[in-house]
Amino acid sequence: MSTAKQGSIFWLSITGLLCSVFFLAGQYYAGGPTSASTPFLDFVKARRTYYALNDTLGFGKETVVEIVQDLVQDVPSAFNSQSNRVVILFDQEHGKFWDTVSRTLKNIVTEDQWQSTSDRIATFKAAAGSVLFFVDEAVVQELAANIPTYANEFPTWATESGGMLQHSTWTALEAKGLGANLQHYNLVNEEVAKTWNLPATWRLKSQLVFGGRTGEPGEKTFKPLSEKLKVFGA
Ligand SMILES: Cc1cc2nc3c(=O)[nH]c(=O)nc-3n(C[C@H](O)[C@H](O)[C@H](O)COP(=O)(O)O)c2cc1C
Repeated sequence: MSTAKQGSIFWLSITGLLCSVFFLAGQYYAGGPTSASTPFLDFVKARRTYYALNDTLGFGKETVVEIVQDLVQDVPSAFNSQSNRVVILFDQEHGKFWDTVSRTLKNIVTEDQWQSTSDRIATFKAAAGSVLFFVDEAVVQELAANIPTYANEFPTWATESGGMLQHSTWTALEAKGLGANLQHYNLVNEEVAKTWNLPATWRLKSQLVFGGRTGEPGEKTFKPLSEKLKVFGA
């Protein structure tokens, strides 16, 4: 073999070796098999409460619908009972929801509380949409009737499944670059059912307000992990 050919084989081998080293290092730092980090964890860590929102999504509404419909199907529920129900409201329909909340609260809060309440509702209304989360109580009652041993647990398990769906939706929408915040104006349950012609068994649990980000989340503090986590046998 000529010296020139031997030289090029040598450099090709070195290049291949370096590529492998960089690939493995990349795997390590970007969440490969040797690291706990994954894109999923990165998105969970990045999710925050954003109150400053506008009505700009930056992509089509169907993307939000697709995300939510995937999650409604894939998030687990006790005995696969599928007790979660969801309504997505955009634009004027979203505005209608927050006007309903506003009308209802005006009759409840004191005059001194009204200005701050009304300002808060205005920030929600300025966003692009709301995802309303419900539990179908018919499903919960049917489970309790069919499996009496766990009758007292089913309401809690339905709430837990709802929480999983809310967190997944919050995280997924923010992974698309939106901001979102979670609200609990559930006293408008009856009016919501009437306005959007929903089954009487759907019970409103929370609202995820989403939109374009126009501000940063507030500071967040963390209790020491040692208070919250114990590991044995690691
Ligand atoms: C179960 C639950 C209920 C919450 N309820 C409300 C609420 O009613 N209004 C609100 O503004 N934020 C609500 N939040 C948001 C929390 O205040 C927020 O998630 C927490 O302070 C941590 O901040 P982060 O979301 O930026 O990580 C709720 C969050 C959770 C998980």
